[in-house]
Amino acid sequence: MRRVVISGTGFHAPAPRISNEELVAAFNAYVRRHNAEHAGEIEAGTRQPLAESSAEFIEKASGIRCRHVVDKAGLLDPERLVPSIAERGDDQICVQAELAVAAARGALAKAGREAADIDAVIVAATGLQRAYPAVAVEVQQALGARGYAYDMNVACSSATFALRSAVDAVACGSARRALVICPEVCSGWLDWRDRDCHFIFGDAAVAMVVEAADDAVSAVRFEVLGSRLQTQFSNNIRNNFGFLNRCEDGDPLARDKLFYQQGRKVFKEVCPMVAEQILDHIGEHGLTPADLSRLWLHQANINMNDLVTKRVLGPDFRREQAPMVLDEYANTAAAGSVIAFHFHSDDLLTGDTGVICSFGAGYSIGSVIVRKL
Ligand SMILES: CC(C)(COP(=O)(O)OP(=O)(O)OC[C@H]1O[C@@H](n2cnc3c(N)ncnc32)[C@H](O)[C@@H]1OP(=O)(O)O)[C@@H](O)C(=O)NCCC(=O)NCCS
Repeated sequence: MRRVVISGTGFHAPAPRISNEELVAAFNAYVRRHNAEHAGEIEAGTRQPLAESSAEFIEKASGIRCRHVVDKAGLLDPERLVPSIAERGDDQICVQAELAVAAARGALAKAGREAADIDAVIVAATGLQRAYPAVAVEVQQALGARGYAYDMNVACSSATFALRSAVDAVACGSARRALVICPEVCSGWLDWRDRDCHFIFGDAAVAMVVEAADDAVSAVRFEVLGSRLQTQFSNNIRNNFGFLNRCEDGDPLARDKLFYQQGRKVFKEVCPMVAEQILDHIGEHGLTPADLSRLWLHQANINMNDLVTKRVLGPDFRREQAPMVLDEYANTAAAGSVIAFHFHSDDLLTGDTGVICSFGAGYSIGSVIVRKL
């Protein structure tokens, strides 16, 4: 088996950016209009009024200050609160592939590679823009990569699960060089009218070049020492959108066809599982928490990450040991942990070790131990 490295990462976020204040202003305008329209029923007690959101709550509960999105105007229109994205023809690149290509180009440049050097492309995301052809195949063609390409979805853990697939493919020789790309258009499946979750997600894409250690030419390389994947079924984070919706004689636009969750339960159940997995996984590699220079955790919520980090590194951890990017980008689903890795790994020294760890719906948890060469 060949030793395998991540030889380059790339990142792309759409330019439109929405602060908590802007988001809350649009949401509260929608709430006031809705309550005014239903004033009679609300007064009669036959309908509950909608409650307003608050920028202070959002930052305190999540650590999020803003998010980048593919469209801002539609999202901030109180009558719409849905991104407005022009339909594209079959002869045009789709929105998700466009984000993926931008991130992939950055990763290729950092790895010192051309697209033609790539012979496997995995697009791994919580939502795929269409059923088929695979978005990955469109990305492969847009880049000019060779070999094969496929999509996969393990919700917020898609990146680490795809990284494992790419590492295995390179280690076994079924691919020489792979691209793992997470283009997340979360704004498309978030209910921007739901006060409990309207602030959580943002759009962004991240990519990694994965190749054999003895083949890589980039200045910065992280060897993948091992990965561990875990899934355990839960309904606490769910989205029932799917191709059978139209056959079910229900409402294909009903609330359950977008992201919904039991946030508190997720918090309580997932954090201990994640900490236990990281500790057990590093132990299997003969490592202790003191050997870890960094944790690049899924970027869902600062309080969740602080709890996991405390359990793994101890109560006196420093912020730079578990960097956050969600203040600027919010929860970018599968992309989050790799975005943290992209922005906060160049300063590590040869021999420094860290863990990229994702967690989310499924439940799914993926931990990948990496060491800087
Ligand atoms: C989503 C999450 C940030 C919500 O935070 P929370 O502290 O659990 O918030 P709760 O839903 O319990 O609500 C707490 C209070 O804030 C209020 N609240 C909820 N949303 C609000 C908003 N947007 N603005 C103002 N107040 C709000 C609630 O009404 C509640 O008020 P009450 O105490 O008077 O009843 C949190 O549960 C979480 O991070 N869960 C982890 C799961 C996750 O992020 N998953 C993403 C996919 S991996």
